[in-house]
Amino acid sequence: MSKNREKFNESLKVASEVLKDSKFVWIISHHDADGLSAAGLLAKSLMRLGVLFHIRILFQPTYSIISSLLKSESSVLVFCDMGSGQIDQIIKVFKDYPDRRRQVIILDHHQPLLEDFEDSEIVHVNPMLFGFDGAEEISASGVTYFVARALDEKNKDLSSLALVGALGDKQDKEENHGFYGLNREILEDGKSVGAIVEIEDIRIFGRERDPIPLAVEYTIDPLVPGVSLSPETCNKFLSGLNIPLKKDGVWRTISDLSDEEKQKLLEAIVEKIAEKRREDKTSIFKEIFGKEYIFPQESRDSYTRNAREYDALIASCGRSSKNGVGVSICLGDRGETYKEGVKIFNEYRAKFARSLQWFINNEKKAVEQLKHTQFIDGRGVVDEFIMSHLASVIAINRLLSPEKPLLTIAGFSEDLVKISGRANEYLVKKGVNLGLAMREASTLINEGAVGGGHNIAAGAKVPENLLEKFLKIVDEIIAKQLISSQD
Ligand code: C5P
Ligand code: C5P
Repeated sequence: MSKNREKFNESLKVASEVLKDSKFVWIISHHDADGLSAAGLLAKSLMRLGVLFHIRILFQPTYSIISSLLKSESSVLVFCDMGSGQIDQIIKVFKDYPDRRRQVIILDHHQPLLEDFEDSEIVHVNPMLFGFDGAEEISASGVTYFVARALDEKNKDLSSLALVGALGDKQDKEENHGFYGLNREILEDGKSVGAIVEIEDIRIFGRERDPIPLAVEYTIDPLVPGVSLSPETCNKFLSGLNIPLKKDGVWRTISDLSDEEKQKLLEAIVEKIAEKRREDKTSIFKEIFGKEYIFPQESRDSYTRNAREYDALIASCGRSSKNGVGVSICLGDRGETYKEGVKIFNEYRAKFARSLQWFINNEKKAVEQLKHTQFIDGRGVVDEFIMSHLASVIAINRLLSPEKPLLTIAGFSEDLVKISGRANEYLVKKGVNLGLAMREASTLINEGAVGGGHNIAAGAKVPENLLEKFLKIVDEIIAKQLISSQD
């Protein structure tokens, strides 16, 4: 489908006009970094309009959740980062309870379930309907940003939050970890109003703030095998480089290093990754060196100054079920709630490090191979939110074979399990679409299974007793996707 910018703009205009005329808006958004940023972004633009709002953060809207949300007193309900896959459920609630008909706006970038439907009370804003790539060139925060910009050009400063959401969804897919398409346009807006500065540097966590050993230890994108998340081996690795780590008794940061020192560190990191991955060093170099997005209005010692760190901070709040803290940070809190966020982040990092270590120590036992997919069963060991993060880290760092999609399993509730699916560009090019596979397998299983997402990253919730059947069906669907793309 070719891109139709005019039609996309029309849908933005309709959504912005509804918002302008509203009195009280319910914002319903997803608990990940993209969802939290989208909620914060929309709330900020409504505040500027003087429109009252209420925010509710969810994992996924089911029929019963949608039904109870539509009972609310608000005039308008906005679903951010969700809704496109649940339009049928919204329509069903409207039909089952005519008194719950409300104006609904969907600001989403997931693969839509229904493209053509007639319902004047649902404004569906999803760039995928107009030929844009929702997995890689625009996030839900990006869609929300375009609505905010349609409300008022002054909202261009909110472009920074839109990029935090895009990074949360791993959309820095252009050469050197840049953005393309609609995300690029958002970046240019941010640069034009001085909200974002784009630089190229060694991509290490906390480059302007953290002591070098801490920064290197906490870098997991990319993961430096045997160095990331392990203080002892990280210190040993750094001491072998002969780079002074302190100046006048004060820790130096990555941004304090001279060009030669940075080069030395870069080469050593590339060498370490190459030992494990046996990939060509130029491509590894490209992973560790690239674009960083700085928000100059934020203080130097804040995680919110660097877009990737901002993403990590609020994502850890979502994954720790502290959504309110994540949203408050997006709304601009840099006081007590921000400090609480940093505490949550540090606790989360420690938990994540233990889960990653579990995977590394048990790789052989933990991974099971099916014909076209591979899966890790983390039930009873890794909690559901950490598991989906671990799935992303394993896939992005190619810790398992990139030839097959990865599915991870974690406990969700007494009788449901949570599946996270991760592919890569290579598999997507070969025809893999995990979002469709998860949705189709859930429909076939029926019995309360729900699934969907993007071609490259998707998820499902499945009754535990049907897990084996579900995995087998997904494996068969992936086989069909691979074959049909060869035709
Ligand atoms: O719901 P939503 O679209 O926001 O979430 C997408 C999820 O998939 C995020 O957790 C993101 O980190 C993950 N992802 C990934 N690898 C990609 C693209 C997305 O792990 N290439
Ligand atoms: O939870 P996880 O990060 O694995 O989700 C990956 C992607 O799949 C996200 O975009 C999420 O919104 C989507 N998903 C979905 N339906 C589910 C579970 C996840 O659409 N039941």
